[in-house]
Amino acid sequence: MSVDTTFQMPTPIDKEVAWDKTKTIMSKTDKFGTIEYANDTFIDVSGYEDYELMAKPHNIIRHPDMPKVIFKVLWDNLKEGNNFHAIVKNLARSGRYYWVITDFDISKDSKGQVQNFFARRKSVPTPVIANHIEPLYKKLLQIEEASGIESSEKYLTGFLEEKGKNYVEYILDVMSDHEAKELAKQGATTEEKKGFFGKFFGK
Ligand SMILES: Cc1cc2nc3c(=O)[nH]c(=O)nc-3n(C[C@H](O)[C@H](O)[C@H](O)COP(=O)(O)O)c2cc1C
Repeated sequence: MSVDTTFQMPTPIDKEVAWDKTKTIMSKTDKFGTIEYANDTFIDVSGYEDYELMAKPHNIIRHPDMPKVIFKVLWDNLKEGNNFHAIVKNLARSGRYYWVITDFDISKDSKGQVQNFFARRKSVPTPVIANHIEPLYKKLLQIEEASGIESSEKYLTGFLEEKGKNYVEYILDVMSDHEAKELAKQGATTEEKKGFFGKFFGK
């Protein structure tokens, strides 16, 4: 993997990227997470040009507010060939942030070895971030800074055990709870409330 020694992480600023939240941000990587393709929405939202992204590790858009443990759980799943829904705060070139939820497709060779990852990302409603995700991630980051990723992983495990869910189930739960409340406000039928996550990623 080529290492770009000229890359400097943008200085984060506490402002959200203004983007069309109906769009899907897409990228394709090799099995190590090196970017091979990014769609126009990725380019628009991140603020990087294609030539700046290609052959770069995906952590080019890593936001320092993200706890390491979330990426550990993400990679543990991807390496096993499992899809994973994570809520991630990303850092644009401008220093602004954008929150997304991920959905992955994984292509494998004839021996079953992972070849490529395809990541699709949608925007996450602000109340989900403010009420559930930001408080949890802040705590995980504080724990990591004080006593390392082993401790933040233990905390996350305890947090999820209390809820009787794994991380993906918890994420889907807070997303669908929010959606159900929104639909109820709009007076949607039970049928319309079903299968929200499928509709979300068009599956
Ligand atoms: C297909 C794919 C998409 C990814 N998308 C993101 C992303 O949008 N934001 C991000 O911070 N990390 C993303 N990652 C994870 C990064 O590879 C990396 O693990 C993460 O940024 C943390 O960086 P670090 O491992 O250097 O701490 C993605 C990985 C893969 C394989």
